[in-house]
Amino acid sequence: MIPSTYATVAQHLRESKSIVVTTGAGMSAESGVPTFRDETGLWMGYRPEEVATPTAFARDPNLVWSFYRKRRADLAPIQPHVGHRVLAGWQQRFEDLTIITQNVDGLHERAGATRVFELHGRLDLTRCTACNHQQQGLDDLGALPTCPNCGALLRPAVVWFEEMLPEAAIVGSSEAIDRCDLLLVIGTSNRVYPAAALVEQAALRGVPIIEINPKPTPLSNLAGVALREPCGRALAGIDAAL
Ligand code: OAD
Repeated sequence: MIPSTYATVAQHLRESKSIVVTTGAGMSAESGVPTFRDETGLWMGYRPEEVATPTAFARDPNLVWSFYRKRRADLAPIQPHVGHRVLAGWQQRFEDLTIITQNVDGLHERAGATRVFELHGRLDLTRCTACNHQQQGLDDLGALPTCPNCGALLRPAVVWFEEMLPEAAIVGSSEAIDRCDLLLVIGTSNRVYPAAALVEQAALRGVPIIEINPKPTPLSNLAGVALREPCGRALAGIDAAL
């Protein structure tokens, strides 16, 4: 039996011309990637100001790199789950569906999604702290990798606290939010800005908002429909109701 909420969301999807899906760490939780603020989240074991700020990197780049090397290694065996595949499939099915993610794991893309704005960068990419050099992989670069072009320190190509988001990602996301007539907010605590501001931006235009998250968030009051369950099950259920 298909729960009526799945049918309601499916109807919203069918009737919308432009859809945005924003995702956070909960989107990847069922693939085995830890979230940040849940009981077993990354920020329960690490202090972000010690491993995820430019100040932390300037103070102790070895510590910061060891944190990111571990996250990269942990990501190696991880696979997208059914929820990632459903969203990628919806990009084929619907004319205009944009995914905006705070996740740095690349799982949407690996599931086949094509229009994805990655607000917080990518864990598998490395960039130079001085020039424009960017590369994938670190294998032969030693404990504290340096740029093959200019010799400056390389750093993970993720966005840290206190840093600006990549301009193309935030401009593209904002444009998608401004033209959408349906927003799905999946697996984010909605506590980190400016990502959470995109949800508020859509709400100001009166866009219907659907939240998929086992727990309420500070922006749940903006959602007309809330599915309080893991996103893999919810997305598969909605997909079956389409
Ligand atoms: P959080 O760890 O803050 O929140 C994860 C959310 O996912 C919570 O609201 C959970 O209830 C929900 N959740 C857990 N399992 C889920 C599941 N199976 N299905 C659906 N939802 C589930 O992660 P984010 O909101 O993504 O930024 O955190 C945002 C940013 O804070 C991250 O991108 C990272 C972090 O600091 C930077 O590092 C810059």
